[in-house]
Amino acid sequence: MNSINHVAIIMDGNGRWGLEHFKSRNRGHKEGIKTIEKIIKESIKHNIKFLTLYAFSTENWKRPKKEINYLFSLLEYFLKKKINDFIKENIKLKIIGKKFLFRNIFKIINFCENKTKNNTKLQINLALNYGSKSEIIDAIKLLNKNKIQITEKKISENLYTKNIPDPDILIRTGNTHRLSNFLLWQLSYTEIFFVKKLWPDFNEKDFTKIVNTFRYSKRNYGKI
Ligand code: IPE
Ligand code: IPE
Ligand code: MG
Repeated sequence: MNSINHVAIIMDGNGRWGLEHFKSRNRGHKEGIKTIEKIIKESIKHNIKFLTLYAFSTENWKRPKKEINYLFSLLEYFLKKKINDFIKENIKLKIIGKKFLFRNIFKIINFCENKTKNNTKLQINLALNYGSKSEIIDAIKLLNKNKIQITEKKISENLYTKNIPDPDILIRTGNTHRLSNFLLWQLSYTEIFFVKKLWPDFNEKDFTKIVNTFRYSKRNYGKI
């Protein structure tokens, strides 16, 4: 049976859900928060140590300003609402991505990271302003600058995800089969699950089903 350390999720489909139910993409983003809360709880039940959530890609800046502003106000609301729970439940929050965001968000993010940095039950990596290609380029630039020889190990150690094991499972909801510039290096041997449901419809049962399928899957790593 495979053990599970790390689950990464591309939470896709909020916009379509919102349009379908309330004629508003933003309403879908709001609904998506509830799924995040459910999946955090379920991850703890399964004793998963790392949960990485793709919240905003470097490409998402191409969206209308109104939607971007709403997404960041939602993020602020979420962090303010959850910080006490994170502290109480021994959850560590880490941001992966380029952190030059709006000033007020930057403050609350740093506050949450600092307050939870010694927590050990579950580490939530929030991918924010995240792009995998630029992450890899930055790592290589840093190695070059410090005249360090480029090896797999050294690249891994210089990504935003240093000290985080590669994901065992990647889930993408929203019925779209692509990676959208997410963890390209780290997903080399990850088991990938594409889910038809839109993110706000995804639930604990769907998550558990994937976890159980993974536990009994055969991971070859090139062997037979
Ligand atoms: C994913 O949902 C959430 C973010 C990118 C922030 P989308 O907003 O991409 O939803 P769809 O894919 O348009 O339905
Ligand atoms: C990926 O979803 C990014 C996040 C979930 C944050 P997108 O909806 O932005 O991906 P594309 O543009 O359809 O590939
Ligand atoms: Mg999408």
